Amino acid sequence: MPEKIDYHAKIPNNVNLADDRRLQRALEGWQPKFLNWWGEMGPTLETQGVYLRTAVSVGREGWAHFDHVNVPDYRWGIFLAERDPDRRIAFGEHQGEPVWQQVPGEYRADLQRLIVIQGDTEPASVEQQKLLGLTAPSLYDLRNLFQVNVEEGRHLWAMVYLLHAYFGKEGREEAEALLFRNSGSPDTPRILGAFNEETADWLAFYMFTYFTDRDGKYQLGTLKESSFDPLSRTCEFMLKEEAHHMFVGTTGVDRVVTRSAELIREHDTYDIAAHGGIPLDIIQKYINFHYTVSLDLFGSETSTNAANYYTAGLKGRWQETRRKDDHKLTDSSVFLDRPNGDGTWGKEEVQALLALNLDLRSEYIADCQNGLNRWNKILEDNGIDFRFRLPHVGFNRSVGLTAGYHVAPDGSLIDEATWEANRKNWLPTSADLAFVRSLMHPVYERGKIAGWVAPPTNGINGKPFDYEYVYLP
Ligand SMILES: [Fe+2]
Ligand SMILES: [Fe+2]
Repeated sequence: MPEKIDYHAKIPNNVNLADDRRLQRALEGWQPKFLNWWGEMGPTLETQGVYLRTAVSVGREGWAHFDHVNVPDYRWGIFLAERDPDRRIAFGEHQGEPVWQQVPGEYRADLQRLIVIQGDTEPASVEQQKLLGLTAPSLYDLRNLFQVNVEEGRHLWAMVYLLHAYFGKEGREEAEALLFRNSGSPDTPRILGAFNEETADWLAFYMFTYFTDRDGKYQLGTLKESSFDPLSRTCEFMLKEEAHHMFVGTTGVDRVVTRSAELIREHDTYDIAAHGGIPLDIIQKYINFHYTVSLDLFGSETSTNAANYYTAGLKGRWQETRRKDDHKLTDSSVFLDRPNGDGTWGKEEVQALLALNLDLRSEYIADCQNGLNRWNKILEDNGIDFRFRLPHVGFNRSVGLTAGYHVAPDGSLIDEATWEANRKNWLPTSADLAFVRSLMHPVYERGKIAGWVAPPTNGINGKPFDYEYVYLP
C-alpha cells in the first residue's frame, strides 16, 4: 500500500521530512516567503472555498482527494512517486549502473541548472494567470483555473525541495531567486520567453494550457528519465497533475470552437464577432502564436548541451526506455531542414546525439496535432469548411534555425516586407486581442456560462456543471 500523507504536518510530504530536521527547518523558512509570493503574485480574485483536488498519496489509485478549500490554506506538499529499488540508468555512458540517490559532484552544476529552469516556469504561469479569475466564463472554469494555479505552486515546491535537499547553500539561494524573478518584469524576468508573455484572456489561457503546459509535459518526461532518482520520481508525480492542465486546454478550445460553430450555423456567417462569438480566423491566429512561442521552449534544433546532458544521463528522451536503439546515439544520424539563404530549404545530416531537442520537439508536434484534429472534427460535424492548421515549424520563431528568417505559415521563406504586410493575417493583432478581451465578463451564477464558449460535457469528479464549484464572498 502506498503510504498516506500526514496532513497535520506543516509541510505534507512523503519524503520523511520529520527525520531530517535541518531540511525541515530550511523548508519551513522558505514557506512564509512562498505564501507572501502567493499573496502578492497569485490569483487576484478572493474566494471562500474552491472545489480542489489535493494529493493524498502517490499510488496509482485514488491519489486525489476533492473538497472545498480556502485557497491560501491549500496544502502544498512534497510528493515523489514511489522508489523502484531496482531502477537502473537507461541511457548514456552510465547505462546499466544503478541510479543515483545523491548528486554526483561532476554533474552538480548541470543538474542544479536543469532544476532551476524547470522550477522557474512553475510560478511564472501562476503570475501570468493572476487576473483571469476576474473574468472567468463560469464557476466550473474558475475552479479549473485555481486547480492549475495551486498545482503549479506545488510544482514549485517540488523543485524547491530538490534544491534544498541536494544542493546546499547554493540550492537555497536559487530557491529564493525563484520567488524573486517575476513574469514580464523588466529587470528580473522569468528565464524563458514564453513565460514572460501575458495570459490576458481565457482563450489565451486555454491555448497556454494546451500548447505551453504540453511543452512542460515533454520537458518533465525527459527529466523523469534522469539518472538522479529523486528528480525522476518528482517529475513522475508532477506528470500526473500536468495531465489535468492539458485537459483544461484541450476541452477549453473544444468548447470555444463548438460555440463558434453554433453561432456560424445560427447566423449563417463566419463573421460572428457581432454575435458575441470568437471568429475562427482569430482562433487560428491564437493557435499560431501560442504554438510557436511554445516551440521556442525546446531550444535550438542542435545542441551540444542537450547531447552532454544525455551522455551524462541527466536528461533522457521522451519514453527513453521504450525506444529500440542503443540509448547512446553516437553512431546514428538524422536529417534536419534548414533555410539555404536563397529562399529555398535544404537538408542537413546531423549526429542524432546533437539533435535531441529536435527529437523531443517532433514528439511534441505530433501530440499537438491531435488537438487540431479534434477541433477540425467539431467543424466538420457542423458542416463548416474551415480547417485549423499548425503553422510550419519555422514560422514566427525567436529560437533555433529559423530565428533570423521570415517564414510564412505554409513554410515559404519570405522577405521582411511580405512578412510585415501579412503579419496581421497570421498573428493576433491588437484589435483581435482587444475584441477577445471585450468578451471577457465574469459569469459567476451557478449553471450559467458566457456567450462565447460552450459548457463542458462533464463536470469535475462526477459533479454536474451547475455544481457550486467556487464559493464567492
Ligand atoms: Fe507545472
Ligand atoms: Fe502545468
